[in-house]
Amino acid sequence: MKRREIIKMLGLSAVVGSAGLMAACSMNDSKVEENADTLAEKAKEAVVELSERDKKIVNRQELSFYDPEKPTDFELKHTPQIDVLAKDKDGFTEIKISVGQKGIVHPTEENHWIDYIKFWADDKLVGNILYEAGIAGGFAYFKLKLDNVKSLKAEIGCNIHGIWKHTLNL
Ligand SMILES: [Fe+2]
Repeated sequence: MKRREIIKMLGLSAVVGSAGLMAACSMNDSKVEENADTLAEKAKEAVVELSERDKKIVNRQELSFYDPEKPTDFELKHTPQIDVLAKDKDGFTEIKISVGQKGIVHPTEENHWIDYIKFWADDKLVGNILYEAGIAGGFAYFKLKLDNVKSLKAEIGCNIHGIWKHTLNL
């Protein structure tokens, strides 16, 4: 092979080679961009926008009386009270849940309120209510058939002071 032919061949293969490499690179770039777009979309879907209400709920720690013999007013104010009231002709018993105990009522303000009440008959969740700040006080009424029910349990959430529970054995 003559020197000129060898140089020509090398030049051609270099052009073909670099074109192939460029194609491979550009394919990789577009795939990378495609993957980045997909990931960005998935990230957007994964981000849960908190409502203004949820942004105010800053404490989900479970709390209870430090000394059950001597509960403080603060502890009583956050502990749900369960009052079993009258039974109607159809066999449903009216039950009132209020927060807190011994007449110490938890406040209902824009930035401090009872944001939910959950209620169980034995292990069965029978009620789960969300409350709006500033307008809905931490109260609930239920009508339940209490046949064979051994205990009632209420759980409340104060947006600032955490989660408090009370169980009433029947
Ligand atoms: Fe509170």
